[in-house]
Amino acid sequence: MPDSIRVKTINHVGIPIWDRRASLKFYRDVLGLQVIPSMVDSPHIVWTKTLDGTMVHLIEPSDGENLGAPHIAFEVEDFDLAVTVLGESGYSELTEPGERHDGQKYVFVDDNDGNRLEFTTASGLPTSSRVADALGYTTDSGTNEVVNSPSTIKILTINHVGLPITERAECLRMYRDLLNINVIAHQIDGNSLCWAEMPDGSMVHLIDTPHSVGPHGDGRQHVAFEVADIEVTAEALVEAEVEIVEGIGTRHDGQQFLFVYDPDGNRIEIATRGDHSQTTRTADENGYTRENGVLL
Ligand SMILES: [Fe+2]
Ligand SMILES: [Fe+2]
Repeated sequence: MPDSIRVKTINHVGIPIWDRRASLKFYRDVLGLQVIPSMVDSPHIVWTKTLDGTMVHLIEPSDGENLGAPHIAFEVEDFDLAVTVLGESGYSELTEPGERHDGQKYVFVDDNDGNRLEFTTASGLPTSSRVADALGYTTDSGTNEVVNSPSTIKILTINHVGLPITERAECLRMYRDLLNINVIAHQIDGNSLCWAEMPDGSMVHLIDTPHSVGPHGDGRQHVAFEVADIEVTAEALVEAEVEIVEGIGTRHDGQQFLFVYDPDGNRIEIATRGDHSQTTRTADENGYTRENGVLL
């Protein structure tokens, strides 16, 4: 069997934004993410993190005019192996590997639906002397200006990322076959999603093209933040005048969820951790899920 890539977890997500002042009112002041020093030279990226260190990079247009695409960064066990395997895989837009100020190595590639994926080593944040101001603008030295969020919301980590796809079987050549992310039974109704799980329980949800879209458009691309208490979180969102557009709902594994939008229209889910360890559902190799033998 050829060497294959082992994905450990989600290292960070990249979310396109227009203006950090507006975005930080949402991500820092309402959701409680902490601004941390950036380890890249581009001044257009605000680095923030959840409580377990999983990062959220808010990315302003580098040319002031064009929003970039969102991306998800997977942390892999063996970075050099990942670069080799990706290089031989035939996927497009594979970039030259680079290295950040904290020693984190990275490379980008697109899946066959054009979803931007990044692969990284672990982050070395504690060893850097770089400092950030309140808006995340970063310099090599000085005093770190940590702004404590007034929020009561505590984002523990990233629970999953939703990615829009077209051809599921094709798409799984990347996530299942190349990255070894484990396809599991999903815990929703219908069969329009494929759930795939990393070793630490964080997930990628690959979402088929819908027949029609709802009032908010195509909401497949989203980031799901994990909290311990959805009710307390919902109350804090209402208090902050953030509209809850869907939820609170509950999935078959007990996972509770709700949806909001950030100031730029990025769809954000807030979810608790489900427990699907005892599920009676089964999935085929493409994630099509059955309950009591019946296809959902
Ligand atoms: Fe990134
Ligand atoms: Fe989701």
